Amino acid sequence: MIKPIPVDKEIKLDPTKIIMSKTDPKGMILYTNDYFLDICGYLETELMGKQHNIIRHPDMPRVVFKILWDKLKKGEHIYAFVKNLAKDGRYYWVLASFETKFNDDRSIQAHYSKRKPIPEDSIKEIEKIYKILLSLEKNDSTMVLAENYLTGKLEEDDITYEEFILNILKTSKENLDAFFDGKTDEILPKENKKFVKKKIVEKPKEVKKEGFFSSFFK
Ligand SMILES: Cc1cc2nc3c(=O)[nH]c(=O)nc-3n(C[C@H](O)[C@H](O)[C@H](O)COP(=O)(O)O)c2cc1C
Repeated sequence: MIKPIPVDKEIKLDPTKIIMSKTDPKGMILYTNDYFLDICGYLETELMGKQHNIIRHPDMPRVVFKILWDKLKKGEHIYAFVKNLAKDGRYYWVLASFETKFNDDRSIQAHYSKRKPIPEDSIKEIEKIYKILLSLEKNDSTMVLAENYLTGKLEEDDITYEEFILNILKTSKENLDAFFDGKTDEILPKENKKFVKKKIVEKPKEVKKEGFFSSFFK
Protein backbone atom coordinates (compact mmCIF):
# COMPACT_ATOMS: atom_id res chain seq x y z
CA MET A 1 0.00 0.00 0.00
CA ILE A 2 1.30 3.48 -0.89
CA LYS A 3 1.93 5.67 2.17
CA PRO A 4 -0.14 8.89 2.14
CA ILE A 5 1.70 12.19 1.79
CA PRO A 6 1.27 14.12 5.07
CA VAL A 7 -0.70 17.36 4.90
CA ASP A 8 -0.63 19.94 7.67
CA LYS A 9 -4.29 19.54 8.60
CA GLU A 10 -5.52 18.18 11.89
CA ILE A 11 -8.44 15.85 12.51
CA LYS A 12 -10.06 16.81 15.80
CA LEU A 13 -11.18 13.95 17.99
CA ASP A 14 -14.37 13.68 19.99
CA PRO A 15 -13.42 13.38 23.70
CA THR A 16 -16.53 11.34 24.42
CA LYS A 17 -15.39 8.65 21.98
CA ILE A 18 -12.54 6.18 22.16
CA ILE A 19 -10.37 4.71 19.39
CA MET A 20 -9.65 1.04 20.05
CA SER A 21 -7.62 -1.73 18.50
CA LYS A 22 -6.29 -5.18 19.30
CA THR A 23 -3.21 -6.89 17.87
CA ASP A 24 -1.50 -10.27 18.06
CA PRO A 25 1.78 -10.48 20.07
CA LYS A 26 3.76 -9.15 17.09
CA GLY A 27 1.49 -6.13 16.54
CA MET A 28 -0.59 -7.45 13.63
CA ILE A 29 -4.02 -5.79 13.73
CA LEU A 30 -6.85 -8.18 14.65
CA TYR A 31 -9.59 -5.70 15.53
CA THR A 32 -10.42 -1.99 15.24
CA ASN A 33 -13.59 -0.30 16.44
CA ASP A 34 -15.77 1.91 14.20
CA TYR A 35 -14.30 5.17 15.55
CA PHE A 36 -10.79 3.95 14.60
CA LEU A 37 -12.02 3.50 11.01
CA ASP A 38 -13.92 6.83 10.99
CA ILE A 39 -10.82 8.77 12.02
CA CYS A 40 -8.06 7.09 10.00
CA GLY A 41 -10.22 6.70 6.89
CA TYR A 42 -9.18 3.11 6.10
CA LEU A 43 -11.61 0.28 5.54
CA GLU A 44 -11.57 -2.56 8.03
CA THR A 45 -10.38 -4.89 5.25
CA GLU A 46 -7.41 -2.61 4.57
CA LEU A 47 -6.26 -2.83 8.19
CA MET A 48 -6.82 -6.43 9.24
CA GLY A 49 -3.56 -8.40 9.28
CA LYS A 50 -1.48 -5.23 8.84
CA GLN A 51 0.90 -3.55 11.29
CA HIS A 52 -0.09 -0.31 13.02
CA ASN A 53 2.73 1.48 11.23
CA ILE A 54 0.19 1.86 8.40
CA ILE A 55 -0.91 4.98 10.36
CA ARG A 56 2.60 5.91 11.56
CA HIS A 57 3.31 9.60 11.10
CA PRO A 58 6.86 10.65 10.00
CA ASP A 59 6.92 13.25 12.83
CA MET A 60 6.94 10.42 15.40
CA PRO A 61 10.35 9.70 16.93
CA ARG A 62 11.30 6.01 16.71
CA VAL A 63 12.46 5.94 20.31
CA VAL A 64 8.85 6.34 21.51
CA PHE A 65 7.92 3.05 19.81
CA LYS A 66 11.04 1.42 21.22
CA ILE A 67 9.93 2.35 24.75
CA LEU A 68 6.40 1.17 23.91
CA TRP A 69 7.54 -2.27 22.74
CA ASP A 70 10.02 -2.69 25.61
CA LYS A 71 7.16 -2.13 28.04
CA LEU A 72 4.66 -4.29 26.13
CA LYS A 73 7.07 -7.24 26.00
CA LYS A 74 7.35 -7.04 29.79
CA GLY A 75 3.57 -6.87 30.03
CA GLU A 76 3.63 -3.40 31.56
CA HIS A 77 0.91 -0.83 30.97
CA ILE A 78 2.06 2.33 29.19
CA TYR A 79 0.62 5.67 28.12
CA ALA A 80 2.15 7.38 25.07
CA PHE A 81 1.57 10.52 23.01
CA VAL A 82 1.20 9.50 19.35
CA LYS A 83 0.73 11.56 16.20
CA ASN A 84 -1.02 9.39 13.61
CA LEU A 85 -1.41 9.70 9.85
CA ALA A 86 -4.85 9.29 8.26
CA LYS A 87 -5.37 7.82 4.80
CA ASP A 88 -5.98 11.28 3.32
CA GLY A 89 -2.67 12.61 4.77
CA ARG A 90 -4.20 14.57 7.66
CA TYR A 91 -2.94 13.96 11.20
CA TYR A 92 -4.50 13.33 14.60
CA TRP A 93 -2.86 13.36 18.01
CA VAL A 94 -3.82 10.71 20.50
CA LEU A 95 -2.96 9.82 24.02
CA ALA A 96 -2.78 6.06 23.78
CA SER A 97 -3.08 3.57 26.60
CA PHE A 98 -1.54 0.14 25.89
CA GLU A 99 -2.12 -3.12 27.69
CA THR A 100 -1.08 -6.74 27.22
CA LYS A 101 -3.15 -9.84 27.91
CA PHE A 102 -1.39 -13.08 28.81
CA ASN A 103 -2.25 -16.76 28.36
CA ASP A 104 -2.19 -19.09 31.36
CA ASP A 105 1.39 -20.10 30.48
CA ARG A 106 2.40 -16.37 30.61
CA SER A 107 2.90 -16.19 26.84
CA ILE A 108 1.43 -13.03 25.27
CA GLN A 109 -2.12 -13.46 23.96
CA ALA A 110 -2.77 -9.96 22.58
CA HIS A 111 -2.02 -6.24 22.91
CA TYR A 112 -4.82 -3.70 23.33
CA SER A 113 -4.81 0.02 22.74
CA LYS A 114 -7.33 2.73 23.62
CA ARG A 115 -6.84 6.26 22.35
CA LYS A 116 -8.28 9.63 23.40
CA PRO A 117 -7.58 13.26 22.39
CA ILE A 118 -4.82 15.37 23.99
CA PRO A 119 -5.37 18.98 25.20
CA GLU A 120 -3.89 21.68 22.90
CA ASP A 121 -1.29 23.01 25.36
CA SER A 122 0.01 19.48 26.03
CA ILE A 123 0.37 18.87 22.27
CA LYS A 124 2.52 22.03 22.00
CA GLU A 125 4.77 20.80 24.78
CA ILE A 126 5.16 17.28 23.40
CA GLU A 127 5.78 18.59 19.86
CA LYS A 128 8.84 20.50 21.10
CA ILE A 129 10.28 17.37 22.74
CA TYR A 130 9.50 15.11 19.75
CA LYS A 131 11.20 17.58 17.38
CA ILE A 132 14.40 17.33 19.43
CA LEU A 133 14.16 13.52 19.53
CA LEU A 134 13.61 13.37 15.75
CA SER A 135 16.62 15.56 15.07
CA LEU A 136 18.76 13.38 17.36
CA GLU A 137 17.58 10.29 15.48
CA LYS A 138 18.38 11.72 12.06
CA ASN A 139 22.06 10.76 12.10
CA ASP A 140 21.85 7.99 14.66
CA SER A 141 20.17 4.76 13.61
CA THR A 142 20.83 3.24 17.04
CA MET A 143 18.54 5.80 18.75
CA VAL A 144 21.08 6.00 21.60
CA LEU A 145 21.25 9.81 21.51
CA ALA A 146 17.46 10.19 21.58
CA GLU A 147 17.09 7.62 24.35
CA ASN A 148 19.80 9.33 26.41
CA TYR A 149 18.11 12.69 25.95
CA LEU A 150 14.80 11.32 27.20
CA THR A 151 16.39 9.43 30.09
CA GLY A 152 18.31 12.60 31.00
CA LYS A 153 15.06 14.56 31.09
CA LEU A 154 13.51 12.04 33.47
CA GLU A 155 16.64 11.84 35.63
CA GLU A 156 16.80 15.62 35.90
CA ASP A 157 13.46 15.61 37.69
CA ASP A 158 13.83 12.12 39.15
CA ILE A 159 10.51 11.06 37.64
CA THR A 160 9.24 7.98 35.79
CA TYR A 161 8.11 7.95 32.15
CA GLU A 162 4.50 7.84 33.34
CA GLU A 163 5.01 10.84 35.65
CA PHE A 164 6.58 12.69 32.70
CA ILE A 165 3.39 12.06 30.69
CA LEU A 166 1.20 13.07 33.62
CA ASN A 167 3.22 16.29 34.08
CA ILE A 168 2.69 17.25 30.44
CA LEU A 169 -1.04 16.61 30.89
CA LYS A 170 -0.99 18.38 34.29
CA THR A 171 -3.04 15.58 35.76
CA SER A 172 -2.89 12.60 38.08
CA LYS A 173 -3.05 8.89 37.22
CA GLU A 174 -6.51 8.68 38.84
CA ASN A 175 -7.85 11.56 36.70
CA LEU A 176 -6.37 10.08 33.55
CA ASP A 177 -7.80 6.64 34.26
CA ALA A 178 -11.22 8.27 34.84
CA PHE A 179 -10.96 10.00 31.43
CA PHE A 180 -10.11 6.68 29.74
CA ASP A 181 -12.89 4.88 31.60
CA GLY A 182 -15.35 7.45 30.21
CA LYS A 183 -16.13 8.83 33.70
CA THR A 184 -15.08 12.35 32.56
CA ASP A 185 -15.06 14.03 29.13
CA GLU A 186 -11.91 16.02 29.88
CA ILE A 187 -8.66 15.37 31.66
CA LEU A 188 -9.15 16.95 35.06
CA PRO A 189 -6.12 18.84 36.42
CA LYS A 190 -4.02 17.58 39.28
CA GLU A 191 -4.28 19.81 42.33
CA ASN A 192 -0.66 20.05 43.39
CA LYS A 193 0.53 20.66 39.85
CA LYS A 194 3.60 18.53 39.11
CA PHE A 195 5.48 15.43 40.00
CA VAL A 196 8.74 16.97 41.16
CA LYS A 197 12.13 15.77 42.19
CA LYS A 198 11.68 13.49 45.13
CA LYS A 199 13.50 15.21 48.01
CA ILE A 200 16.08 13.13 49.81
CA VAL A 201 14.75 13.11 53.32
CA GLU A 202 17.51 12.98 55.92
CA LYS A 203 16.88 10.50 58.65
CA PRO A 204 16.39 12.32 61.95
CA LYS A 205 19.27 11.82 64.31
CA GLU A 206 18.49 9.31 66.99
CA VAL A 207 17.80 11.02 70.28
CA LYS A 208 19.17 9.10 73.16
CA LYS A 209 16.35 8.51 75.50
CA GLU A 210 17.33 9.25 79.04
CA GLY A 211 15.29 8.55 82.06
CA PHE A 212 13.84 11.47 84.00
CA PHE A 213 16.21 11.04 86.96
CA SER A 214 19.41 10.69 84.90
CA SER A 215 19.59 14.49 84.33
CA PHE A 216 20.08 14.95 88.06
CA PHE A 217 23.19 12.79 88.10
CA LYS A 218 25.20 14.54 85.31
C1 LIG B 1 -1.83 -2.38 20.33
C2 LIG B 1 -0.89 -1.50 19.54
C3 LIG B 1 -1.34 -0.30 19.04
C4 LIG B 1 -0.50 0.53 18.30
N1 LIG B 1 -0.97 1.71 17.83
C5 LIG B 1 -0.19 2.51 17.08
C6 LIG B 1 -0.68 3.72 16.53
O1 LIG B 1 -1.82 4.14 16.76
N2 LIG B 1 0.17 4.45 15.74
C7 LIG B 1 1.45 4.06 15.48
O2 LIG B 1 2.16 4.76 14.75
N3 LIG B 1 1.95 2.92 16.01
C8 LIG B 1 1.17 2.15 16.81
N4 LIG B 1 1.68 0.99 17.34
C9 LIG B 1 3.12 0.71 17.16
C10 LIG B 1 3.44 0.02 15.85
O3 LIG B 1 3.32 -1.38 16.03
C11 LIG B 1 4.87 0.34 15.39
O4 LIG B 1 5.80 -0.03 16.38
C12 LIG B 1 5.08 1.82 15.04
O5 LIG B 1 4.08 2.29 14.18
C13 LIG B 1 6.45 2.07 14.42
O6 LIG B 1 6.58 1.32 13.28
P1 LIG B 1 7.95 1.17 12.45
O7 LIG B 1 9.02 0.86 13.47
O8 LIG B 1 7.71 0.05 11.51
O9 LIG B 1 8.17 2.47 11.78
C14 LIG B 1 0.85 0.14 18.07
C15 LIG B 1 1.30 -1.10 18.58
C16 LIG B 1 0.45 -1.90 19.30
C17 LIG B 1 0.95 -3.20 19.84
